[in-house]
Amino acid sequence: MPQENQNNERRSEDLCPRPDVPPAMPTEPLVTPIYQAAVYRCDDPDQADSLLSGAQRGYVYSRDANPNSDLLAERVRGLHGAERAVTCGSGMAACAAIALAHLTSGDHVLLGDQMYGRTQGLFEKELVRLGVTSARVDACDAAAVARAMTPRTKLVVCETITNPLVRVVDIAALAQVAERGGARLVVDNTFASPVLCRPLELGAHVVFESLTKIMNGHSDVLLGVVCGSSAGWERMTGVVATYGLSAPPFDCWLAARGIGTLALRAEKASTNALAAAEILAERSECAAVYYPGLAKHPDHELARRQFAGRFGSMLSFTLAGGSAAAERFIHAAKSIPFCPSLGDLSTTLSHPESTSHRGLTPEQRAALGITGGTIRLSVGIESPEAIVAALAEGLAAV
Ligand SMILES: Cc1ncc(COP(=O)(O)O)c(C=O)c1O
Repeated sequence: MPQENQNNERRSEDLCPRPDVPPAMPTEPLVTPIYQAAVYRCDDPDQADSLLSGAQRGYVYSRDANPNSDLLAERVRGLHGAERAVTCGSGMAACAAIALAHLTSGDHVLLGDQMYGRTQGLFEKELVRLGVTSARVDACDAAAVARAMTPRTKLVVCETITNPLVRVVDIAALAQVAERGGARLVVDNTFASPVLCRPLELGAHVVFESLTKIMNGHSDVLLGVVCGSSAGWERMTGVVATYGLSAPPFDCWLAARGIGTLALRAEKASTNALAAAEILAERSECAAVYYPGLAKHPDHELARRQFAGRFGSMLSFTLAGGSAAAERFIHAAKSIPFCPSLGDLSTTLSHPESTSHRGLTPEQRAALGITGGTIRLSVGIESPEAIVAALAEGLAAV
């Protein structure tokens, strides 16, 4: 063989060394490593067949399953006391997976009237093209939901704590209504997290969460999860893999780490949120403060019962001075970043009229009680003094 060819062969081998065998290790890592691999090598066709058919547990292709997404799903499954869980690439991917797994053309869905905007968009703009119809209903009024059920209603979809006015939904009551009507109750538990509420234990049939928020808690991944019962679960995992809604290994690894401190963070953020709500409620600049921990909140008693004494990290308030006051507050409260998300370590704020609820007409927003002066706070785990000082800075400018 000519000298030049030999060198070329050697060079290409150096660039693509195969097989990739990890060094022998007498010890195992304490934490699960990141399996940043798209595909796994099979010994032979028999093994491939047995893995792909599910006869043998293991991994072949990362979109179907990977160790980091399975580990994360297992953690969340445990937190919810669920029979099954699957992770998805975002909260919306989780919501889409539920819809695609449960619905078919001709089916009808009842949607809470204070749902996250994209969730409403999924059902009202996307699934309608596939022949699925929906109607909005006040999910805090179980009797209204019962009246709105139709023989074609397959799913009732609500959030445990609504956005942005933090109303609390009676999950047990709604689960009964759904079941009586032959439908399933799907709960978006993103605002509550399993620290506050485990909807499956209250009778909900399926629960999903955006892990992007307080579950991961560090604003550095987009992920979601679906939890439910074993019955028909293959349909759910099949939809996730087939539509490519699955979760990438590195993000799952980060979220599994974040979830390790969820209970501590949620506890501290709840305490801080109650302190912030109590202070805001005393201020004349605030026309209204929405937090279920306040005795005057319409769902205070339900929240006490359903959330075992905690009230969560989310609160909203409406400034009496309307949009102009909100703008001044947002500029002045410099240490509270204006981020249309939630669940970070730090306190952040959002302005529903210009972000999450911009898709609604002014009349629809007014009917829900959202005005230009409404500000939503996602309370973090700073010292309560730091949060109070930051709010005072904003209010001073109002
Ligand atoms: C209540 C709620 N549910 C679902 C989602 C969607 O989650 P993701 O952004 O991870 O897709 C969000 C996003 O803001 C949300 O606030």
